[in-house]
Amino acid sequence: MRTKIVAGNWKLNNTKEESKTLIKDLKKAIEDKKLKNTRVIVAPTFVNLASSVKTAKKSKIEVVAQNMHQAKNGAYTGEVSAEMLKAIGVKTVILGHSERRTYFNETDAALAEKVNTILENKMETIFCFGELLEDRKADKHFEVVESQLSNALFHLKGADFKSIILAYEPVWAIGTGETASPEQAQEMHAFIRSIIEKKYTKEVADNVSILYGGSVKPANAEEIFSKPDVDGGLIGGAALKVADFTAIIKAI
Ligand code: 13P
Repeated sequence: MRTKIVAGNWKLNNTKEESKTLIKDLKKAIEDKKLKNTRVIVAPTFVNLASSVKTAKKSKIEVVAQNMHQAKNGAYTGEVSAEMLKAIGVKTVILGHSERRTYFNETDAALAEKVNTILENKMETIFCFGELLEDRKADKHFEVVESQLSNALFHLKGADFKSIILAYEPVWAIGTGETASPEQAQEMHAFIRSIIEKKYTKEVADNVSILYGGSVKPANAEEIFSKPDVDGGLIGGAALKVADFTAIIKAI
């Protein structure tokens, strides 16, 4: 059975205190929920990771990073390594978010290196990808997604996918209030599974969790999550409010 996951990407939001409060409130809000086979994840900004890990201790909530550098160490001012993250109890890292690709010029090639670093360190990644609006309008969305996956991930072995969670985030649906319809999400997730099966095996394809991200809200979460190939969500704006995030978790 595939693991269900609801992950909150906090992006550039929340001070140390705000992060603490949000995690504490979330802990309380979900403590009596039966969340069998479901992971609840939050991704605070780097400076608040260590304190967030402490606050989330002995709870269902996992704290993950929003990014990581591929090098072990060295002259890379402003960057953070896998080893540094592991040392504070962070084992999972979001990679390839469209905001990193757009504003920080992250390429598929750099992401392939980052994924390798994740695996070398026995960590896990939530790997994001997705097409631009112009790609979808030009009917190139399948092609774009296939090339993003093949450039950054398809050098891996099938067994490596145990450490990979995929997050399909169509760029036109991020922070815009415009969600992919449940049918569009299902269609793309099924396509992703099919190309993984073609490249690897049915077992690898069946076992990888594929999350949908892009304007998921309490009002649309249940319908999106009801689709057979959607295993959960990567949530931006709605993950900043405990009531909304809890409602989305309940919808899984
Ligand atoms: P929104 O939920 O705010 O659209 O953001 C989605 C996202 O980018 C999660 O990584």
